Amino acid sequence: MEVFKTKAALKAYLEPLKAAGKKIALVPTMGALHNGHISLIKLAQENADVIVCSIFVNPTQFTDPKDLEKYPRPIEHDLAMLNTAGCSAVFMPNVEEMYPEGAGENWHINLGNAEFLLEGAFRKGHYQGVTQIVKKLFDAVEPDVAMFGQKDYQQVLMIKNMLEHFKLPINIITCPIIREDDGLAMSSRNIHLSKTDRKNALVLSKSLQYVVDNFQSYSFDELVKQAKAFYNDLEGVELDYFTIAKGDTLQPAETKEEKSLVALVAAKVGATRLIDNMIIK
Ligand code: PAJ
Repeated sequence: MEVFKTKAALKAYLEPLKAAGKKIALVPTMGALHNGHISLIKLAQENADVIVCSIFVNPTQFTDPKDLEKYPRPIEHDLAMLNTAGCSAVFMPNVEEMYPEGAGENWHINLGNAEFLLEGAFRKGHYQGVTQIVKKLFDAVEPDVAMFGQKDYQQVLMIKNMLEHFKLPINIITCPIIREDDGLAMSSRNIHLSKTDRKNALVLSKSLQYVVDNFQSYSFDELVKQAKAFYNDLEGVELDYFTIAKGDTLQPAETKEEKSLVALVAAKVGATRLIDNMIIK
């Protein structure tokens, strides 16, 4: 497995492969890899010949400096996991390489109304930062396909809107959420959960599953009310939102005949903020 720290070295590696007609996949990550990330590498292998995984903790998408500071960076472990998974190359630039003019550099694009909903409402400017770095990574790799997880449902929508904005010819593949055996969605942040937090964190997947299972039996209002009640007596768990939304716009769901519906949740469990979602249809 090759490891590159500069865009120039990565480009020099990719150029002959592209000239030979190889299909390139990009899997962007912030490291602290788990089996969710590795599932993206595996799906990339089914869709391309050369798999580039980027590891970069992007400062411009963090709204809380403490969150950025405490973001886990187990780089040796990450490289070992990627090597075992059969990843072709890792791109792990430093901040100066990605932001030569400093992280305050100008970036603002229209991502549509969904930018300001849900995660966007709780983390102001988050999706500007996400699309800013993903555009830079797309420019550095110029992949044929790029893999993103449904775990960050709204992020996939925002990236597709960014792609549309720049008319980039990249195929986005959305990968299913990988969960622990008990249902907790895998996340780099799960390592911050205490033993009690870890137990309490199950409320996210349980409340989502409840909505999926009982979708036909109750109105949206009733379903959300019942799902929210899961959080009532849990000490140390604070619900940010629980919503049933239209899958393509994230606007609140209105009718059950909608072609795509998704339930989304965010909650603080102890000091750790977790998100999860399940597609209803
Ligand atoms: P990160 O949180 O490291 O996630 C990298 C990719 O892994 C994302 O596409 C995310 O949705 C996916 N992922 C995370 N947990 C998953 C799970 N349990 N199952 C399946 N896929 C999962 O998302 C980011 O990084 C950043 O915002 C990034 C896109 C790299 C831009 O900085």
